[in-house]
Amino acid sequence: MIDLDNRVVLVTGAAGAIGSATARTVVRAGGSVVLHDRDDDATTPLAAELGDRATGLSADLGDAASVEALWHRAVAAFGRVDVLVNNAGIYPPAPLDDPLDAWLAVWDRSLAVNLIAPAVLCRAAVTAFARQEGGGIIVNLASRAAFRGEDPDYWHYAAAKAGIVAMTRSIARQHGRKGVTAFAIAPGYVDTPFNATFAETVGVEVAAADTGLGEVALPQDVANVIVFLASGLARHATGTTIDVNGASYVR
Ligand SMILES: NC(=O)c1ccc[n+]([C@@H]2O[C@H](COP(=O)([O-])OP(=O)(O)OC[C@H]3O[C@@H](n4cnc5c(N)ncnc54)[C@H](O)[C@@H]3O)[C@@H](O)[C@H]2O)c1
Repeated sequence: MIDLDNRVVLVTGAAGAIGSATARTVVRAGGSVVLHDRDDDATTPLAAELGDRATGLSADLGDAASVEALWHRAVAAFGRVDVLVNNAGIYPPAPLDDPLDAWLAVWDRSLAVNLIAPAVLCRAAVTAFARQEGGGIIVNLASRAAFRGEDPDYWHYAAAKAGIVAMTRSIARQHGRKGVTAFAIAPGYVDTPFNATFAETVGVEVAAADTGLGEVALPQDVANVIVFLASGLARHATGTTIDVNGASYVR
């Protein structure tokens, strides 16, 4: 039933764990994918693996001008973009006892990459989607942290992801009549390099014990939900946030 034939999906952070699983799933479902990451080397192997229906682009999401240019380059790659997946993200610690300057520098970087860059891409996407036949779909990666809160060093991350949820809801309410649907996904612990520090210092088994399933999610578990939303089958669920956390936090 999930069919992305003739659909073009832009995935940011496509060299990462969830991003690469998503890109592979898009291509398996018949779609084409624009693979974005920080530098060309990051996406080249995946683009080669996926063949003609994949192409790589690089941009630093910490730089808003590069982010806007990224949208236009992505549209140029296959002639259109039908689905924007804001997947790239960072998770740097900002310890409370750091000097204020250092603490704020992490906030600035986190908000730039985790919230402002997705906002710039959403802004470009809603404008383009409103003009194109068939409209378009936005899928934004939020986090359980947006609802449950996050560990002490990561207030900035929870705040950025809560911003993602609020922005996604706003887009859904304001742009639906123009053919734009927008969704957020809120994963809990996913077994990726994102959680390397937690895995090393606390252990994946602790995160697994916190779930109803007794296991943490794998990147493919999130990719499946992204591609389902990207398919257009969930159109009337626009504005929603789907939890992918194994019942570690049930809202
Ligand atoms: N892993 C988890 O437990 C988890 C939980 C909740 C939400 N998420 C969200 O899922 C998304 C993907 O996470 P992941 O676990 O696959 O992480 P990952 O680290 O494997 O991938 C993130 C990708 O984003 C790219 N990226 C980071 N900063 C960038 C920048 N400035 N410019 C360009 N690219 C940049 C990285 O190069 C990387 O390829 C993120 O938005 C994250 O917040 C992850």
